Amino acid sequence: MSNIIQLKDKRFAVSIPEADILRQVDRVAAEINRDLKDKNPLFLSVLNGSFMFTADLMKRISIPCEISFVKLASYQGLASTGKVKEVIGINEDLTGRTIVVVEDIVDTGHTMQRLLESLGTRRPKEIHIATLLLKPDKLQVDLDIEYVAMQIPNDFIVGYGLDYDGLGRNYKDIYTVIDAD
Ligand code: IMP
Ligand code: MG
Repeated sequence: MSNIIQLKDKRFAVSIPEADILRQVDRVAAEINRDLKDKNPLFLSVLNGSFMFTADLMKRISIPCEISFVKLASYQGLASTGKVKEVIGINEDLTGRTIVVVEDIVDTGHTMQRLLESLGTRRPKEIHIATLLLKPDKLQVDLDIEYVAMQIPNDFIVGYGLDYDGLGRNYKDIYTVIDAD
């Protein structure tokens, strides 16, 4: 597999090889196995971006747990002018549950904040956050992110579930954009 890929108008180079990703996924899984033992956590994987991280993470979770998938649907709110993101796909009763949100990347943190607000109305006992990637310099909201596989600079990345305009989710490594605008 080439170290450089082209997606539409942009070229990307491998920045985090699969082996490095999986080493950090191992570590995060071990932390969760240790912290949430006996809590029967319900993992809520946020589609589409976190599908690959979720699969690799869950293969390493050895405590009793459940897993479900949610999606954030953007639509134009009637009363509001901005984009509203609605959480869809939750069929489980979250009352009293220990939740672990599984995300691909926390950038500004607005998406995660919105998700936490929405999940909070369903009366879970506690909500933990597990993210594959965090761009700490871009974070704009106060979030307690307990499980972070890797912190990265502000550059745009693709691969291992993450996309550029729908493309690039299928690559096993993470790539960083080469061509600056
Ligand atoms: P936030 O609301 O700013 O934290 O944005 C989070 C969402 O933006 C993620 O769930 C991704 O879908 C997307 N995103 C942020 N940075 C990147 C990136 O570098 N590559 C691909 N998607 C990204
Ligand atoms: Mg996402």
